[in-house]
Amino acid sequence: MLMGSKLRIGFAGAGFAARIHAACWRRVSGVSIELVGAFSRSRGKLSAFAQAERLRAFDSLEQLLGQVDALDICTPGATHEAFTLQTLAAGRDVILEKPYTGYYGPKDGAGFSGLTFDRAAACQEVRSSCERMREAVARSGRRLCYAENWIYAPAVRKEREILEKSRGQILRLLGEESHSGSHASSYGRWSESGGGALGTKGCHPLSAAIYFKAIEGQTRLGRSIRPARVSAHAHRLTQLPGYVDEGTLRTDYIDTEDYGQMHVTFDDGTVADILASDVVLGGVANWIEVFCGNHRTRCNLNPVDALETFAPGAETLKDVYVVEKIHPKQGWMKPAADEDWQHGYPQEMQAFAEALAGGSPPESGWELGETVSLTLAAAYLSASRAGADVEIEIR
Ligand SMILES: NC(=O)c1ccc[n+]([C@@H]2O[C@H](COP(=O)([O-])OP(=O)(O)OC[C@H]3O[C@@H](n4cnc5c(N)ncnc54)[C@H](O)[C@@H]3O)[C@@H](O)[C@H]2O)c1
Repeated sequence: MLMGSKLRIGFAGAGFAARIHAACWRRVSGVSIELVGAFSRSRGKLSAFAQAERLRAFDSLEQLLGQVDALDICTPGATHEAFTLQTLAAGRDVILEKPYTGYYGPKDGAGFSGLTFDRAAACQEVRSSCERMREAVARSGRRLCYAENWIYAPAVRKEREILEKSRGQILRLLGEESHSGSHASSYGRWSESGGGALGTKGCHPLSAAIYFKAIEGQTRLGRSIRPARVSAHAHRLTQLPGYVDEGTLRTDYIDTEDYGQMHVTFDDGTVADILASDVVLGGVANWIEVFCGNHRTRCNLNPVDALETFAPGAETLKDVYVVEKIHPKQGWMKPAADEDWQHGYPQEMQAFAEALAGGSPPESGWELGETVSLTLAAAYLSASRAGADVEIEIR
């Protein structure tokens, strides 16, 4: 339960994700939220974020933790475990962006390349990281909210209702998260991001697939159906010697993949196929399709067609935000009426605020984060073995 009447939030990170989270914390109703301040490695980003959001800029995480009830971690993956452990040890709740945790190379980084490391050993490291985080949550008695927005996206929530009420059996799932390349400078460097498209984009539809199978299992069998094994491939398409650079895609990937696909087999023998890439033009492609014997649903997170707008020239909409990663803003487009809403961000913050204020565990918590991280670690191992099936050892 909250000590005061307000839930005081601090941010680690002051970039893209922090800006979305700040906007969505402000949309929470029924729980009083105070956005206190932020800490970030980049002073420039920190002061711009603090000024725009009317927050205090802190010089250290310790100072910030002294002033808040919960830390919203919006920094690159390599910081996630350390910041989580520090926050829980300080007796504060955690909101943690994806990836939950992962493998980022040796501490000193010496000689590390994301292209050549031992992926079997990395699976063990990821398992150890998950254990440390799980134990820290248990020891602290605090909550960990895993910020997987797909779980709270309206399209995913509606399919959850359909699954529960129809008692459908999911035979296969097909999902994708793709666009033309992340803006973040840490993306493309494994030691900071923990992987490329397969892990850092594929985590979203993978999470939804795991969630749907858990809901189906709870509804029909009284137990979650969980991922059992995975076969995966990863490619560096923009790094191919014959790649024709049209200047439309990001290409500066140091040691990460820009296309990946996973074939996940669940413990009931059913399957999910997940695609993720940085080579898709025309905006964001975020969707998951659910194939049951009694229904079929395509959940579109982006684009959605609430609006369809035609602009004959790029000038017409130059001052209008249309949709993520669309360029040029010309011809037929599907502008997002409320992009944060269709992605599930405000609903996520609402759910986390209620969980933290009420003392209950969030629906997207460490269990989902852990399952996704272990599945991705196994997927990267599989990709290094030309797609051989790898068992996913979930606790
Ligand atoms: N759920 C989503 O849809 C979504 C979207 C974008 C990003 N993300 C996740 O959010 C996280 C941040 O991504 P982003 O796009 O905001 O990146 P960004 O580059 O826009 O911002 C990162 C911020 O973290 C700070 N930072 C980096 N290393 C740090 C360190 N060691 N200590 C303190 N601060 C540090 C940077 O200075 C910057 O302020 C990533 O984990 C990413 O995967 C999630």
